[in-house]
Amino acid sequence: MSTDDPAERRVYPARDRSRHPPALTPTYKSSIYRSPQADLISFPTTLSEETGPVFGDRILGDLDGDLTQNFAAIGESAIGPRTIVFGSVLDDGGRAVSGALLEVWQANAGGRYRHKNEGYIAPLDPNFGGCGRIITGEDGSYEFRTIQPGPYPWPNGPNDWRPAHIHFSVFGQGFVQRLVTQMYFEGDPLIPLCPIVRTIPSDDAIASLVGALDLDRTIPMDARAYKFDIILRGPQQTYFENRVEGL
Ligand SMILES: [Fe+2]
Repeated sequence: MSTDDPAERRVYPARDRSRHPPALTPTYKSSIYRSPQADLISFPTTLSEETGPVFGDRILGDLDGDLTQNFAAIGESAIGPRTIVFGSVLDDGGRAVSGALLEVWQANAGGRYRHKNEGYIAPLDPNFGGCGRIITGEDGSYEFRTIQPGPYPWPNGPNDWRPAHIHFSVFGQGFVQRLVTQMYFEGDPLIPLCPIVRTIPSDDAIASLVGALDLDRTIPMDARAYKFDIILRGPQQTYFENRVEGL
């Protein structure tokens, strides 16, 4: 990326906060403790935020993009509906974001995370770790294999359930494009009931987080496919979850 000439520096528009939930949304109980107590302060972006970090394919292991296999014993596989998630990472101008690092994590098919603080009674799957990573190609495309996660209950209201979802952390071509978000699955009846989803102010913004079943990319007798495109920064950007530390 270019250097000291300000004219060559990319200009990132301010985030469109009308697409994002307010930081304090008491129906999502944790936001009471996590939301800022003072007004936000804006800072101009710096060159290092606009041009780094840069990742290369060399950081990836052979199975990083296959969650059905990357924690499985030899000859075994994670249990659950075999699924392909794919899409493109684009910027607000519709340009492909190549070399973007996507880190994903999710519950297993029973809705349980492999985490020491997990308290749900659903069983662990010995062949499923629940995390993986991918780097976008020259055209901004990405794809990974996994199993569809299950919904899980969480201690918010008396009976709240998270829809099936995959967490995404995205590093674009600079920290200014950093994105943490979640993908849901088309047709899940829990999506409109979820207190976290309901903090998002518009149906259009919610729809941008729902992966669509794509039969053309389905592999017969193997895996269903869901398409999830990600827009970084700008008026079309995907809803950012990391609103506190985001720019
Ligand atoms: Fe989750």
